[in-house]
Amino acid sequence: MLPADLVVTNLAELVTCEPALGEGPLGVITRGALAAHGGRIVWVGPESRLDAEVAAALGARRLDAGGGVGLPGFVDSHSHLIFAGSREEEYALRASGATYREIAAAGGGILSTVRATRAASVDALVELALPRLATVLAHGTTTLEVKSGYGLTTPDELKMLDAAHRLGALQPVALHATFCGAHEVPPEFKGRTDAYVDHVVREMLPAVAERRLAEYVDVFCDEGVFSVAQARRILEAGARYGLRAKFHADEFVSLGGAALAAELGALSADHLLKSRVEDVVRMKAAGVTAALLPGTAFFLGLPYAPARKFLETGVRVALASDFNPGSAMGPNLQLVMTMAVSQMTMSPEEALLGVTLHGAYAMGLEAELGSLRPGKQCDLLLAQVPNWRYLSYLYGVNHVSRVVKRGRLVCGQ
Ligand code: NIG
Ligand code: FE
Repeated sequence: MLPADLVVTNLAELVTCEPALGEGPLGVITRGALAAHGGRIVWVGPESRLDAEVAAALGARRLDAGGGVGLPGFVDSHSHLIFAGSREEEYALRASGATYREIAAAGGGILSTVRATRAASVDALVELALPRLATVLAHGTTTLEVKSGYGLTTPDELKMLDAAHRLGALQPVALHATFCGAHEVPPEFKGRTDAYVDHVVREMLPAVAERRLAEYVDVFCDEGVFSVAQARRILEAGARYGLRAKFHADEFVSLGGAALAAELGALSADHLLKSRVEDVVRMKAAGVTAALLPGTAFFLGLPYAPARKFLETGVRVALASDFNPGSAMGPNLQLVMTMAVSQMTMSPEEALLGVTLHGAYAMGLEAELGSLRPGKQCDLLLAQVPNWRYLSYLYGVNHVSRVVKRGRLVCGQ
C-alpha cells in the first residue's frame, strides 16, 4: 500500500500525458484517480483500484473532482510577463494599418516598454506582475518561463530578474528566468549593434551569471534586431556560464535562427513563423524543441507557423503564450490550444501535449513536470468539462476550476 497525503477522485478522465499509463497518445485513464505524497505523484490508475493500492494518511486531503477532468498543470515556456506600462495605443494603430515592425522602427514597440520599465522600481514591477500571475494561475499555468529584456542596461536587466525571483517566492506559479538583454538595441547604442552585443557579452552576462539570476539566455534574432552571427556570440557566451539557449528565431523574417538553434543544441527555438522546413529538420535531429506561439500571430494578424509541416519532420512542438504587452497580451493557454487546433490544424492531442509535456521539454524540465507520472511533481488541474477535448473545443472561457501545485491546492476550493 502506498501512503498518500492527497487523493483525487471522481474524475471522468485523468489525462496523464504518458501514453504508457492510459489510452491513446495522451494516456487517458477513464474514471481515473491520483494520489500524491509530499508534493509528488505516487500513484495514478482507475479509481476502482485506488482503495486496494493506496493508503490515505490521517488528515490526507481528498479532492472530489465532481466528474470533471484532471490533467497536468500547464508549462508555459515563453513569456515576457514582467513589464511596466502598456501599449493599447499600438494595438489600435495596428488595427488602422500600422505594422508591429513599423511601430518598433518609429521608437514604439519594445522600446516604449523599455522606457516604462526603466522608470519602475523593482517593487513596482513586482506589484504590477502579481495580478497577472494570479490570472496565469487561475487559467492553469503552474510553471512559467519569464524573460528580462525591457531594461537593456545592466542595472535594469538585473532589476527585472530580481523581480522574477521575488515573484517566485510570493505566489504559487513556479518561475524560471531567462536573461534576454538582447531583446532590442537600446537607444544609447542606436546604430551600434555590435557594440551593444559586446556590452551584453562582457558586462551584462557576467553580472547576471554571478548573481545566479537566470537559467536561460535568449536573443531576438531577426531582421533589424540581432543577426545570426550576433545571436551566436551571445548564446555561446551564455553557454559558458551554464545558461541554456532558448531564443526568438525567424519571427518576422527567415534569417536562419532555426538552423542556429540546431547548430548550438538549444533547448528551444521559439516563434518560427518564417522558418525553413529544412532548418526544422535539423532542429529535430539536434533534439531542439520548436516552441510555437500562436497568440502572437493571432494578436498581430500574421499567418500562423506551419505547424503541420514542422510536425511531419518529427520535431517536438511546444505551445507557449509569449505573454507580453506588445505582440501577445494574453496568458490563457486554453485559448492558445484552440488557436493551434483551429488555425494551425494541430490535433487536440498535439495541442494539449504542447502546453504540458512539450512545454516542459522546452524548459529542460521534462523529468519533473509536464505529465502525471508517479515520481513527478504533483502539478494538477481540475477542469469542469465532460471530456478533455472540451478544453480547446469550448473556447474563450476558463475551464480550470482548481489548481494543485506541488501537491497543494493553490486555486479554487
Ligand atoms: O516575442 N519578438 C520579440 N519579443 C516579443 C515582443 C515583445 C514586445 O513587443 O514587447 C515577441 O513577440
Ligand atoms: Fe517573445
